[in-house]
Amino acid sequence: MDIKDYKELVHSTLEGYFAVEIEKANYDKTIWEAMQYTTLLGGKRLRAMFCLESCRVFSGSYEQALPCACAIEMLHAQSLIHDDLPCMDNDDLRRGKPSNHKVYGEAMAVLAGDALISFGAQTIIEKTPAFVDTKVLLEVVNLYLKSAGAFGIVAGQCADIEAEKNIEKVDYEHLEYIHTYKTAALFECAILSGAMLGGANKMQLDLMKEFSYNFGLAFQAYDDILDVISNTAELGKTAGKDEKENKATFVTLFGLDYAKEKFSELILNCHDILKKAEINSDVFLQILKDMRERVS
Ligand code: IPE
Ligand code: IPE
Ligand code: MG
Ligand code: MG
Ligand code: MG
Repeated sequence: MDIKDYKELVHSTLEGYFAVEIEKANYDKTIWEAMQYTTLLGGKRLRAMFCLESCRVFSGSYEQALPCACAIEMLHAQSLIHDDLPCMDNDDLRRGKPSNHKVYGEAMAVLAGDALISFGAQTIIEKTPAFVDTKVLLEVVNLYLKSAGAFGIVAGQCADIEAEKNIEKVDYEHLEYIHTYKTAALFECAILSGAMLGGANKMQLDLMKEFSYNFGLAFQAYDDILDVISNTAELGKTAGKDEKENKATFVTLFGLDYAKEKFSELILNCHDILKKAEINSDVFLQILKDMRERVS
């Protein structure tokens, strides 16, 4: 499977999950439509891909990770829906289309985000194939819930919003904290859950955790860089927003050159860890290469 195959598989599987529920929905149809809207708008599907490919490299198959990969895309969609709300980053555009609250209103956007988190957890529990060990399944769900809440994305988003008020006081360590939780936590969830479903051992899981941390920070640096060097049409979200919204980013705190240097260093770390873990994956390499090319 290459990037395109994985992307199509994740999209069609998510489409199937939503179609069943929309068909059954009654006075609550709007919530399912709002949940589906942002989730099916797509995006790069990087987290789902990492989850599937990480399972494949350790077990030779990705199928047992498919419900989990889709759940992680639901959780990611939730984080984007809430991130765009007027009380957070106040963004009208997401994935090239009006943000969730612009279409469904703020109340539905809040509810859709809440419901996506639990629908994701349910999906992992109900749809993961029965041959997966219950203990592994429990660990995967626990990791998913940790990443979704105050041990993960919520912690990062809290620190991100609070940093806006006092951006001149934010140092490197503080920024790293924000990026680790708001962004790297979900990549860690995707990569480690895939590895666990693929039967990776403790040493392999430790290396994948290190990879996730480096990749997560690199990815947020990449996002921070694109916010200034790219444009709205290309990004599908409003460019140039971080400075306007007083966001603490690699670029706003330390400048574009530093952000690029840091990005390159983190990507090199990712390559080193893959070698050390003896991971042979064209998908992992392609993701790193695509990012490097877009930033250079
Ligand atoms: C955006 O993530 C949120 C960040 C963590 C920067 P992506 O850039 O992966 O968003 P999509 O899924 O491609 O839309
Ligand atoms: C993303 O950070 C973190 C999330 C949890 C969504 P950003 O606020 O930089 O993401 P974009 O740029 O809006 O996608
Ligand atoms: Mg944000
Ligand atoms: Mg944002
Ligand atoms: Mg951003």
